[in-house]
Amino acid sequence: MSAIRYELIHECKQTGARYGKLHTPHGVIETPIFMPVGTQATVKTLSPEELEDMSAQIILGNTYHLWLQPGDDLIQEAGGLHKFMKWDKPILTDSGGFQVFSLSKLRNIEEEGVHFRHHKSGEKLFLSPEKAISIQNNLGSDIMMSFDECVELPSTFEYTKNSLERTLRWAERGKNAHKNPDTQALFGIVQGGDYEELRRMSALELVKMDFPGYSIGGLSVGEPKEVMYKVLEWTVPFLPKDKPRYLMGVGSPDALLEGSIRGVDMFDCVLPTRIARHGTAMTSEGRVVIKNKVYERDFSPLDHECGCYTCKNYTRAYLRHLHKANEIFGQRLVSYHNLYFLLNLMENVREAIKEDRLLTFKEEFFEKYGLTSG
Ligand code: GUN
Ligand code: ZN
Repeated sequence: MSAIRYELIHECKQTGARYGKLHTPHGVIETPIFMPVGTQATVKTLSPEELEDMSAQIILGNTYHLWLQPGDDLIQEAGGLHKFMKWDKPILTDSGGFQVFSLSKLRNIEEEGVHFRHHKSGEKLFLSPEKAISIQNNLGSDIMMSFDECVELPSTFEYTKNSLERTLRWAERGKNAHKNPDTQALFGIVQGGDYEELRRMSALELVKMDFPGYSIGGLSVGEPKEVMYKVLEWTVPFLPKDKPRYLMGVGSPDALLEGSIRGVDMFDCVLPTRIARHGTAMTSEGRVVIKNKVYERDFSPLDHECGCYTCKNYTRAYLRHLHKANEIFGQRLVSYHNLYFLLNLMENVREAIKEDRLLTFKEEFFEKYGLTSG
């Protein structure tokens, strides 16, 4: 039996976007959903209670980081990642594939796996599909990712094809190494760069392996948004309707809307928390860069339409002061707001899907946010 079950509840008549429920061993999540990233067993600056307060339903952890520190064996000894970090709702873990390619400069890809050096210490390391699964089995995440290679864009057709074929073999090996399919769902990851034929091939081959869900990888790596949307249109139609689809590493408001419209159910990104720590907020009227002088005596909330803890209690002038004084509390307050903003956006997306008006919602949102629809 699969550890998760996706229940498709409604398809928006205006767009085809899906509203559904994903049943997991740690509870039910409503989709489309944004998943805050907690790379090192913490969503930076925020407590699990605060995440619950803002209605986060599922968070991410990272195989790569937790394997290196504090070690997946230690986390297993603690009773698993949920218990270790005191988060009893669903957790999804990435496989480490992407982090090896994005963080480590020196690496050597072989059929067996990837040799690389620690991104800080330089220590020699090796990750394989089996190892990535074994780590995730020890972490005990509800949803695990196959070990994959995320190719740069652009890459040649030949390189992309060879890489994708190897990633398919890695997916099969990971599936065979998975010890707990009844309690942890393993997703396959579609790759194939920006080639229509390769994306289709990747999706079709993974679907033959019958994973409980499918991720779409290799995107948001610097390509224009139009390329990302095209790739989604080439990929999603080949994925089964009764399984969840996860667009990896995407979290800008426009991409969340365009992805949902193209049939994606799950998203994650470090963007909201990362820009928050640098003093940038996502608001209903677009980005607010809090250090700007215009906010020096602005005693109004960060986002006039937001009901979050930060917006209910603090002013732009105060947030600007905290930022300029390099105070941690400022980072916390803006992180809280940005995550609340994206979670709330997705709540509105789900409501709009249920009422068959997601296109109208998107146009209104883009108009206010200062984006051009298209
Ligand atoms: N996160 C963002 N993109 C990717 C990807 O292509 N693969 C993996 N494993 N994680 C990602
Ligand atoms: Zn707010």
